[in-house]
Amino acid sequence: MNDSVPSSLSKPRCIALMNQKGGVGKTTTTINLAAAIAQAGYRTLVIDLDPQAHATLGLGIDGAEGRSIYDLIHDATDAVASAREVSPNLLAIASHTDLAATETELAAAEDRLERMKRVIAAFAGRVDYVLIDCPPSLGLLTLNALAAADEVLIPMQAHFLALQGVGKLLETVKLLASGPQAINPRLKVAGVVLCMHDAASTHTREVVADLDAFFEGGRASESPWTGAVVFRPAIRRNIKLAESPSFGKTIFDYAPLASGAEDYRALAEAFLAGRRPQTTPQGEVPLVVTRPSISNAEKTEAAQASTPA
Ligand SMILES: Nc1ncnc2c1ncn2[C@@H]1O[C@H](COP(=O)(O)OP(=O)(O)OP(=O)(O)O)[C@@H](O)[C@H]1O
Ligand SMILES: [Mg+2]
Repeated sequence: MNDSVPSSLSKPRCIALMNQKGGVGKTTTTINLAAAIAQAGYRTLVIDLDPQAHATLGLGIDGAEGRSIYDLIHDATDAVASAREVSPNLLAIASHTDLAATETELAAAEDRLERMKRVIAAFAGRVDYVLIDCPPSLGLLTLNALAAADEVLIPMQAHFLALQGVGKLLETVKLLASGPQAINPRLKVAGVVLCMHDAASTHTREVVADLDAFFEGGRASESPWTGAVVFRPAIRRNIKLAESPSFGKTIFDYAPLASGAEDYRALAEAFLAGRRPQTTPQGEVPLVVTRPSISNAEKTEAAQASTPA
């Protein structure tokens, strides 16, 4: 790909996958949801914004070769040429361990929160979706992703303590989207993706009911999560999803018949509903809207206690 982009072309829809809690399924969801969206026919870009470079590994890219997101954060020139083709419709920008130094390197830069915006702007008219795999922290890298994103998608495991973390995360998104420190007023929370899900556990079911009730209760509010949902289906625990990164393959290339592939394909369907770009270079795309099914439970206090009124 070359970099000569007519600036009038439509910007890609940008989704930051974030949760400051570690090991919850962010990277697994980023690469497999992106692969499923690409298979549905949309040009999709994964940006690995985590110095751990797990998405880079999982997509089978050599992070040592070519320009990484570290380079592009410092200078977005050639951003498009730096994207590697993973499979049809699926591109990726690799991470690099140097990324860990970005926080310090950019501390004094006035435009330090604008860097990802510039990288993504370069893909106007080139891709339909950008999925950013964020590190498990709320530092400068994640803030850069949130400054550039249209939506936040929260992968989580349905455990009681995880609810507290999601509450804090929502609070952070609200601060970034409104108020004196707002850096991205258009930022919305798309919802939660349930990862490594065990539907047989009573505790899990209670936590999911709490989440459903919480989002349903926020429908009338002006918060960034007004339209948020707990996406269905949940992603079941599936060992093939854990094995596939070691082969540098998405679940669709590694084990296309596994439950992990089935779940991520269905998740992509649910996610795309209501979010399809209005136009693509190939032509027009229909627009559909979904709403979640909602249940109730008494433990909503846990979620509500940790989220802003
Ligand atoms: N549905 C699943 N079934 C089985 N294993 C899974 C599933 N989802 C993720 N895993 C495994 O769980 C571990 C953590 O997942 P992942 O790396 O996606 O989390 P993460 O939130 O990106 O972690 P980090 O915070 O370190 O970036 C990985 O070993 C991954 O392969
Ligand atoms: Mg990760």
